[in-house]
Amino acid sequence: MNTVVPDTAIANVEKNGFLDIELDPSLDLFAEIEKLKKEKNAVLLAHYYQEPDIQDVADYIGDSLGLAQQAEKTSADMIVFAGVHFMAETAKILNPGKKVVIPDFKAGCSLSDSCPPPLFKKFKEQHPDHIVVSYINCSAGIKALSDVIVTSSNARVIVESFPKDQKIIFAPDKNLGAYINKVTGRNMLLWNGACMVHEIFSLEKITRLKTRHPKAKFIAHPECEEPVLRLADYIGSTTGLLKYTETDDAMEYIVATETGILHQMMKASPNKTFIPAPPTNNCACNDCPHMKLNTLEKLYLCMKYELPEINMEEELRLSALKPIKRMLEISSQAGL
Ligand code: 13P
Ligand code: SF4
Repeated sequence: MNTVVPDTAIANVEKNGFLDIELDPSLDLFAEIEKLKKEKNAVLLAHYYQEPDIQDVADYIGDSLGLAQQAEKTSADMIVFAGVHFMAETAKILNPGKKVVIPDFKAGCSLSDSCPPPLFKKFKEQHPDHIVVSYINCSAGIKALSDVIVTSSNARVIVESFPKDQKIIFAPDKNLGAYINKVTGRNMLLWNGACMVHEIFSLEKITRLKTRHPKAKFIAHPECEEPVLRLADYIGSTTGLLKYTETDDAMEYIVATETGILHQMMKASPNKTFIPAPPTNNCACNDCPHMKLNTLEKLYLCMKYELPEINMEEELRLSALKPIKRMLEISSQAGL
Protein backbone atom coordinates (compact mmCIF):
# COMPACT_ATOMS: atom_id res chain seq x y z
CA MET A 1 0.00 0.00 0.00
CA ASN A 2 1.73 3.18 -1.12
CA THR A 3 1.36 6.55 0.53
CA VAL A 4 -0.44 9.05 -1.76
CA VAL A 5 2.17 10.75 -3.92
CA PRO A 6 1.75 14.44 -4.73
CA ASP A 7 1.23 15.00 -8.52
CA THR A 8 4.22 17.33 -8.66
CA ALA A 9 6.38 14.57 -7.20
CA ILE A 10 5.35 12.12 -9.93
CA ALA A 11 6.29 14.63 -12.64
CA ASN A 12 9.50 15.11 -10.76
CA VAL A 13 10.36 11.39 -10.82
CA GLU A 14 9.75 11.27 -14.55
CA LYS A 15 12.03 14.26 -15.14
CA ASN A 16 14.81 13.71 -12.60
CA GLY A 17 14.63 10.00 -11.90
CA PHE A 18 13.94 10.43 -8.18
CA LEU A 19 11.49 11.98 -5.72
CA ASP A 20 12.70 15.47 -4.94
CA ILE A 21 10.66 16.20 -1.82
CA GLU A 22 12.10 18.35 0.93
CA LEU A 23 12.55 16.46 4.20
CA ASP A 24 12.61 17.71 7.76
CA PRO A 25 16.36 17.54 8.56
CA SER A 26 15.58 16.34 12.10
CA LEU A 27 13.90 13.18 10.76
CA ASP A 28 15.73 10.03 11.89
CA LEU A 29 16.02 8.40 8.48
CA PHE A 30 17.54 5.18 9.86
CA ALA A 31 14.57 4.65 12.20
CA GLU A 32 12.06 5.69 9.51
CA ILE A 33 13.54 3.25 6.99
CA GLU A 34 13.35 0.42 9.54
CA LYS A 35 9.69 1.34 10.20
CA LEU A 36 8.88 1.34 6.48
CA LYS A 37 10.53 -2.06 6.01
CA LYS A 38 8.17 -3.57 8.60
CA GLU A 39 5.04 -1.69 7.48
CA LYS A 40 5.51 -2.67 3.84
CA ASN A 41 7.16 -6.07 4.28
CA ALA A 42 10.07 -4.74 2.23
CA VAL A 43 13.59 -6.11 1.91
CA LEU A 44 16.46 -3.69 1.35
CA LEU A 45 19.21 -5.09 -0.86
CA ALA A 46 22.38 -3.01 -1.28
CA HIS A 47 25.52 -3.34 -3.36
CA TYR A 48 28.92 -2.86 -1.69
CA TYR A 49 29.45 0.34 -3.70
CA GLN A 50 26.61 2.14 -1.93
CA GLU A 51 27.46 4.86 0.57
CA PRO A 52 28.15 3.57 4.13
CA ASP A 53 24.83 4.85 5.57
CA ILE A 54 22.87 2.84 3.01
CA GLN A 55 24.99 -0.27 3.65
CA ASP A 56 24.34 0.10 7.39
CA VAL A 57 20.57 0.11 6.99
CA ALA A 58 20.44 -2.72 4.39
CA ASP A 59 19.09 -6.22 5.10
CA TYR A 60 21.61 -7.74 2.72
CA ILE A 61 24.80 -6.30 1.23
CA GLY A 62 26.46 -8.20 -1.57
CA ASP A 63 28.01 -8.51 -4.99
CA SER A 64 25.98 -8.89 -8.16
CA LEU A 65 25.61 -12.66 -7.81
CA GLY A 66 24.61 -12.53 -4.14
CA LEU A 67 22.11 -9.77 -4.82
CA ALA A 68 20.50 -11.70 -7.70
CA GLN A 69 20.25 -14.82 -5.51
CA GLN A 70 18.62 -12.81 -2.71
CA ALA A 71 16.19 -11.12 -5.11
CA GLU A 72 15.13 -14.48 -6.52
CA LYS A 73 14.40 -16.10 -3.18
CA THR A 74 12.92 -13.25 -1.13
CA SER A 75 9.42 -13.61 0.28
CA ALA A 76 9.12 -9.84 0.90
CA ASP A 77 6.38 -7.94 -0.96
CA MET A 78 8.70 -5.16 -2.07
CA ILE A 79 12.37 -5.27 -3.08
CA VAL A 80 14.11 -1.97 -2.45
CA PHE A 81 17.24 -2.09 -4.56
CA ALA A 82 20.05 0.20 -3.50
CA GLY A 83 22.28 -0.28 -6.49
CA VAL A 84 22.22 0.60 -10.17
CA HIS A 85 19.47 0.10 -12.73
CA PHE A 86 20.67 -3.19 -14.29
CA MET A 87 20.75 -4.77 -10.80
CA ALA A 88 17.21 -3.72 -9.91
CA GLU A 89 16.09 -4.79 -13.40
CA THR A 90 17.64 -8.23 -12.81
CA ALA A 91 15.68 -8.48 -9.53
CA LYS A 92 12.43 -7.73 -11.40
CA ILE A 93 13.26 -10.26 -14.13
CA LEU A 94 13.82 -12.93 -11.49
CA ASN A 95 10.92 -12.08 -9.24
CA PRO A 96 8.22 -10.30 -11.28
CA GLY A 97 5.51 -10.69 -8.63
CA LYS A 98 7.35 -8.28 -6.35
CA LYS A 99 7.32 -4.53 -6.55
CA VAL A 100 10.92 -3.44 -7.23
CA VAL A 101 11.89 0.14 -6.43
CA ILE A 102 15.21 1.98 -6.77
CA PRO A 103 16.13 5.26 -5.03
CA ASP A 104 17.29 6.92 -8.28
CA PHE A 105 16.08 5.60 -11.62
CA LYS A 106 18.98 7.35 -13.35
CA ALA A 107 21.58 5.32 -11.45
CA GLY A 108 22.92 3.67 -14.60
CA CYS A 109 26.24 2.07 -15.52
CA SER A 110 28.83 3.22 -18.07
CA LEU A 111 29.68 -0.40 -18.82
CA SER A 112 26.07 -1.33 -19.50
CA ASP A 113 25.68 1.81 -21.65
CA SER A 114 28.70 0.81 -23.75
CA CYS A 115 26.67 -2.03 -25.25
CA PRO A 116 23.45 -0.85 -26.95
CA PRO A 117 21.23 -3.82 -27.97
CA PRO A 118 20.75 -2.84 -31.66
CA LEU A 119 24.52 -2.62 -32.25
CA PHE A 120 25.18 -5.78 -30.30
CA LYS A 121 22.50 -7.64 -32.26
CA LYS A 122 24.32 -6.79 -35.52
CA PHE A 123 27.65 -7.90 -34.00
CA LYS A 124 26.10 -11.18 -32.92
CA GLU A 125 24.64 -11.74 -36.41
CA GLN A 126 28.14 -11.41 -37.86
CA HIS A 127 29.26 -14.37 -35.72
CA PRO A 128 26.47 -16.95 -36.00
CA ASP A 129 28.69 -19.82 -34.84
CA HIS A 130 29.38 -18.14 -31.46
CA ILE A 131 27.37 -18.39 -28.27
CA VAL A 132 26.97 -15.23 -26.19
CA VAL A 133 28.19 -14.99 -22.60
CA SER A 134 27.28 -11.63 -21.07
CA TYR A 135 28.42 -9.99 -17.88
CA ILE A 136 25.44 -9.11 -15.69
CA ASN A 137 26.36 -5.40 -16.04
CA CYS A 138 24.18 -5.02 -19.14
CA SER A 139 20.60 -4.10 -20.01
CA ALA A 140 17.69 -6.56 -20.21
CA GLY A 141 17.92 -6.07 -24.01
CA ILE A 142 21.47 -7.51 -24.02
CA LYS A 143 20.53 -10.27 -21.59
CA ALA A 144 17.75 -11.27 -23.98
CA LEU A 145 20.37 -11.68 -26.74
CA SER A 146 22.61 -13.85 -24.53
CA ASP A 147 22.92 -17.59 -23.91
CA VAL A 148 24.17 -17.23 -20.36
CA ILE A 149 24.90 -14.41 -17.91
CA VAL A 150 27.93 -14.28 -15.64
CA THR A 151 29.14 -12.12 -12.77
CA SER A 152 32.71 -11.53 -11.72
CA SER A 153 32.42 -14.29 -9.12
CA ASN A 154 31.24 -17.06 -11.46
CA ALA A 155 32.54 -16.02 -14.92
CA ARG A 156 35.43 -18.49 -14.86
CA VAL A 157 33.30 -21.46 -13.77
CA ILE A 158 30.61 -20.69 -16.32
CA VAL A 159 32.99 -20.18 -19.25
CA GLU A 160 34.77 -23.42 -18.30
CA SER A 161 31.44 -25.27 -18.34
CA PHE A 162 31.52 -25.00 -22.16
CA PRO A 163 33.73 -27.24 -24.33
CA LYS A 164 37.16 -25.72 -24.98
CA ASP A 165 36.46 -25.39 -28.73
CA GLN A 166 33.11 -23.61 -28.22
CA LYS A 167 33.26 -20.21 -29.92
CA ILE A 168 32.15 -17.48 -27.52
CA ILE A 169 31.34 -13.78 -27.70
CA PHE A 170 31.90 -12.12 -24.32
CA ALA A 171 30.11 -8.81 -23.65
CA PRO A 172 30.27 -6.03 -22.59
CA ASP A 173 33.44 -5.81 -20.44
CA LYS A 174 36.64 -6.28 -22.42
CA ASN A 175 38.77 -6.25 -19.23
CA LEU A 176 36.88 -9.01 -17.45
CA GLY A 177 36.73 -10.89 -20.78
CA ALA A 178 40.51 -10.60 -21.27
CA TYR A 179 41.09 -11.76 -17.70
CA ILE A 180 38.83 -14.81 -18.19
CA ASN A 181 40.57 -15.56 -21.51
CA LYS A 182 43.89 -15.50 -19.67
CA VAL A 183 42.90 -17.78 -16.77
CA THR A 184 40.94 -20.26 -18.90
CA GLY A 185 43.20 -20.27 -21.97
CA ARG A 186 40.21 -19.36 -24.17
CA ASN A 187 40.04 -16.92 -27.02
CA MET A 188 36.60 -15.36 -26.55
CA LEU A 189 35.66 -12.55 -28.89
CA LEU A 190 35.36 -9.43 -26.74
CA TRP A 191 32.89 -6.55 -27.01
CA ASN A 192 34.77 -3.27 -26.59
CA GLY A 193 33.16 -2.03 -23.35
CA ALA A 194 34.65 -1.02 -20.01
CA CYS A 195 33.77 0.42 -16.61
CA MET A 196 34.72 4.07 -16.17
CA VAL A 197 35.65 3.48 -12.51
CA HIS A 198 37.90 0.45 -12.94
CA GLU A 199 39.73 1.94 -15.94
CA ILE A 200 40.86 4.99 -13.99
CA PHE A 201 43.52 3.45 -11.73
CA SER A 202 47.04 4.75 -12.23
CA LEU A 203 49.67 2.06 -12.70
CA GLU A 204 52.39 4.54 -11.83
CA LYS A 205 50.75 5.70 -8.58
CA ILE A 206 49.93 2.12 -7.53
CA THR A 207 53.57 1.12 -8.12
CA ARG A 208 54.74 4.05 -6.00
CA LEU A 209 52.25 3.18 -3.26
CA LYS A 210 53.42 -0.44 -3.24
CA THR A 211 57.00 0.75 -2.80
CA ARG A 212 55.99 2.93 0.15
CA HIS A 213 53.94 0.07 1.69
CA PRO A 214 56.05 -3.01 0.92
CA LYS A 215 54.03 -5.25 3.24
CA ALA A 216 50.67 -4.26 1.75
CA LYS A 217 48.90 -6.73 -0.50
CA PHE A 218 47.50 -5.31 -3.73
CA ILE A 219 44.01 -6.63 -4.53
CA ALA A 220 41.94 -5.80 -7.60
CA HIS A 221 38.57 -6.31 -9.27
CA PRO A 222 38.75 -8.06 -12.68
CA GLU A 223 37.10 -5.04 -14.34
CA CYS A 224 40.53 -3.34 -14.01
CA GLU A 225 42.85 -3.20 -17.00
CA GLU A 226 45.39 -5.96 -17.59
CA PRO A 227 48.56 -4.01 -16.56
CA VAL A 228 46.90 -3.24 -13.19
CA LEU A 229 45.75 -6.85 -12.74
CA ARG A 230 49.28 -8.04 -13.45
CA LEU A 231 50.41 -6.35 -10.20
CA ALA A 232 47.69 -7.95 -8.09
CA ASP A 233 48.23 -10.48 -5.29
CA TYR A 234 44.55 -11.37 -5.51
CA ILE A 235 41.85 -10.72 -8.15
CA GLY A 236 38.17 -11.20 -7.35
CA SER A 237 34.61 -9.90 -7.24
CA THR A 238 33.69 -7.47 -4.46
CA THR A 239 32.66 -10.38 -2.21
CA GLY A 240 35.86 -12.22 -3.16
CA LEU A 241 37.97 -9.18 -2.26
CA LEU A 242 36.17 -8.75 1.07
CA LYS A 243 36.56 -12.42 2.02
CA TYR A 244 40.22 -12.34 1.04
CA THR A 245 40.94 -9.46 3.43
CA GLU A 246 39.11 -11.33 6.19
CA THR A 247 41.06 -14.57 5.86
CA ASP A 248 44.47 -13.42 4.61
CA ASP A 249 47.09 -12.60 7.24
CA ALA A 250 48.44 -9.30 5.84
CA MET A 251 47.70 -6.15 7.85
CA GLU A 252 47.58 -3.68 4.94
CA TYR A 253 45.81 -3.74 1.57
CA ILE A 254 45.78 -1.48 -1.47
CA VAL A 255 42.33 -1.94 -2.97
CA ALA A 256 41.64 -1.42 -6.69
CA THR A 257 37.89 -1.21 -6.96
CA GLU A 258 35.15 1.28 -6.08
CA THR A 259 35.72 2.80 -2.62
CA GLY A 260 32.35 1.68 -1.15
CA ILE A 261 33.72 -1.80 -0.41
CA LEU A 262 36.22 -0.34 2.07
CA HIS A 263 33.37 0.25 4.55
CA GLN A 264 32.73 -3.49 4.92
CA MET A 265 36.46 -4.31 4.88
CA MET A 266 37.08 -1.91 7.77
CA LYS A 267 34.07 -3.26 9.68
CA ALA A 268 35.18 -6.87 9.23
CA SER A 269 38.86 -6.22 10.02
CA PRO A 270 39.07 -3.07 12.17
CA ASN A 271 42.72 -3.71 13.02
CA LYS A 272 43.81 -3.73 9.36
CA THR A 273 44.59 -0.78 7.07
CA PHE A 274 42.87 -0.33 3.71
CA ILE A 275 44.18 2.11 1.12
CA PRO A 276 42.05 2.90 -1.95
CA ALA A 277 44.12 2.46 -5.12
CA PRO A 278 44.74 5.93 -6.61
CA PRO A 279 43.10 7.13 -9.81
CA THR A 280 45.05 8.94 -12.54
CA ASN A 281 43.63 12.38 -11.73
CA ASN A 282 43.25 14.02 -8.35
CA CYS A 283 39.55 13.29 -8.48
CA ALA A 284 37.25 10.90 -6.65
CA CYS A 285 36.96 8.90 -9.87
CA ASN A 286 37.13 5.62 -8.00
CA ASP A 287 33.71 6.51 -6.57
CA CYS A 288 31.12 5.28 -9.07
CA PRO A 289 29.05 8.37 -9.99
CA HIS A 290 26.08 6.12 -10.82
CA MET A 291 26.11 4.11 -7.60
CA LYS A 292 26.59 7.27 -5.60
CA LEU A 293 23.44 8.89 -7.05
CA ASN A 294 21.54 6.93 -4.39
CA THR A 295 21.36 8.70 -1.03
CA LEU A 296 19.70 7.89 2.29
CA GLU A 297 17.09 10.62 1.62
CA LYS A 298 16.20 9.22 -1.82
CA LEU A 299 16.10 5.74 -0.31
CA TYR A 300 13.64 6.81 2.37
CA LEU A 301 11.42 8.60 -0.17
CA CYS A 302 11.41 5.69 -2.59
CA MET A 303 10.34 3.33 0.19
CA LYS A 304 7.67 5.70 1.43
CA TYR A 305 6.11 6.46 -1.98
CA GLU A 306 7.17 3.21 -3.71
CA LEU A 307 8.70 5.15 -6.59
CA PRO A 308 10.60 5.01 -8.93
CA GLU A 309 9.47 1.52 -9.82
CA ILE A 310 11.12 -0.96 -12.22
CA ASN A 311 8.79 -2.45 -14.82
CA MET A 312 9.29 -4.07 -18.20
CA GLU A 313 7.45 -5.82 -20.98
CA GLU A 314 6.75 -9.47 -20.23
CA GLU A 315 8.21 -10.68 -23.55
CA LEU A 316 11.53 -8.97 -22.83
CA ARG A 317 11.51 -10.22 -19.24
CA LEU A 318 11.03 -13.83 -20.31
CA SER A 319 13.83 -13.64 -22.90
CA ALA A 320 16.19 -12.07 -20.34
CA LEU A 321 15.20 -14.57 -17.65
CA LYS A 322 16.49 -17.67 -19.49
CA PRO A 323 20.23 -16.81 -19.47
CA ILE A 324 20.04 -15.49 -15.87
CA LYS A 325 18.42 -18.73 -14.70
CA ARG A 326 21.12 -20.68 -16.50
CA MET A 327 23.74 -18.67 -14.61
CA LEU A 328 22.07 -19.35 -11.27
CA GLU A 329 21.82 -23.07 -12.02
CA ILE A 330 25.51 -23.44 -12.98
CA SER A 331 26.51 -21.33 -9.95
CA SER A 332 24.51 -23.45 -7.56
CA GLN A 333 25.94 -26.68 -9.06
CA ALA A 334 29.40 -25.17 -8.45
CA GLY A 335 28.45 -24.34 -4.86
CA LEU A 336 28.56 -20.56 -5.47
P1 13P B 1 30.55 -7.34 -8.30
O1 13P B 1 30.01 -6.73 -7.05
O2 13P B 1 29.71 -8.44 -8.78
O3 13P B 1 31.98 -7.72 -8.12
O4 13P B 1 30.50 -6.22 -9.45
C1 13P B 1 31.18 -5.03 -9.37
C2 13P B 1 30.56 -3.94 -10.14
O5 13P B 1 31.17 -3.19 -10.83
C3 13P B 1 29.16 -3.75 -10.01
O6 13P B 1 28.77 -2.73 -10.79
FE1 SF4 C 1 28.96 0.28 -13.79
FE2 SF4 C 1 31.50 0.52 -13.13
FE3 SF4 C 1 29.67 1.81 -11.71
FE4 SF4 C 1 29.86 -0.87 -11.55
S1 SF4 C 1 31.38 0.61 -10.90
S2 SF4 C 1 27.99 0.35 -11.78
S3 SF4 C 1 30.47 -1.37 -13.64
S4 SF4 C 1 30.15 2.16 -13.89
